[in-house]
Amino acid sequence: MVEFILPEESRVKPGKRHRAPEGIPGSLIVEIYRYDPDQPQSPRLDTFELDPKTLGPMVLDLLIRIKSDSDSSLAFRRSCREGVCGSCAMNVNGRNTLACTRPIQGLGNRIKIYPLPHLPVIKDLIPDLSTLYRQYASIEPWLKADPAPGTPAEQRQTIEQRHQLEGLVECVLCACCSTSCPSYWWNGDQYLGPAVLLQAQRWIRDSRDTATQERLRQLDDAFKLYRCHTIMNCTDSCPKGLNPARAIADIKQAIARGQGNTG
Ligand code: SF4
Ligand code: F3S
Ligand code: FES
Repeated sequence: MVEFILPEESRVKPGKRHRAPEGIPGSLIVEIYRYDPDQPQSPRLDTFELDPKTLGPMVLDLLIRIKSDSDSSLAFRRSCREGVCGSCAMNVNGRNTLACTRPIQGLGNRIKIYPLPHLPVIKDLIPDLSTLYRQYASIEPWLKADPAPGTPAEQRQTIEQRHQLEGLVECVLCACCSTSCPSYWWNGDQYLGPAVLLQAQRWIRDSRDTATQERLRQLDDAFKLYRCHTIMNCTDSCPKGLNPARAIADIKQAIARGQGNTG
């Protein structure tokens, strides 16, 4: 069997142990990836002992507790605390998820928290999403409406046309799907990945958008789109229960049919 060995400076070393205060049973062990690229030290895994009875219900609650009580230098993103901003995406016990909607219950008494995989780390649990945002900008994620002369300024959708956007508009761009996709790991500089392709489909599907053909033409590319090999990790990992693999298949189908609107 081939053995892969990371360079010494990339190996995650055991870090500090923050014990529960005397008299409080530390029955929940939380191990958290710590890394500061500006420091010469290798990444480390710090251990925090917590009393689960004093915690709120979600993984984000325990991170906030650790930051306020044990180590204020711990870095992570969060904003809405209710699964709508997408900023608290991270890897918890081996699965990409939103920390604010992932209950602690069910994770066992040892929880491992890492940043989203296969992205450069800015600090601790904060990945660098610059490439993904550039790719998002490249699909021009806004309504391009060039209505025929005489069309009323307000462009209404029927209930059916609005239904076509369901399963797409709920995406919070958390990147859990793209960072779980092996194709995106290996070709993330050229393959747009499931998060951006699902967003592209959101505009392709929109009955008011008049740039459908142009959008499909731009996606019809061996790397941008066809690096999806239907691995399906994306759909399995989406914390919002969406199906990016389906969105990608719909785009491929629309291109194959030479279709305009796939609705
Ligand atoms: Fe996140 Fe799901 Fe959108 Fe992917 S499809 S970015 S996992 S909400
Ligand atoms: Fe990747 Fe999902 Fe396609 S995991 S290869 S984007 S089906
Ligand atoms: Fe907004 Fe978790 S804090 S999605």
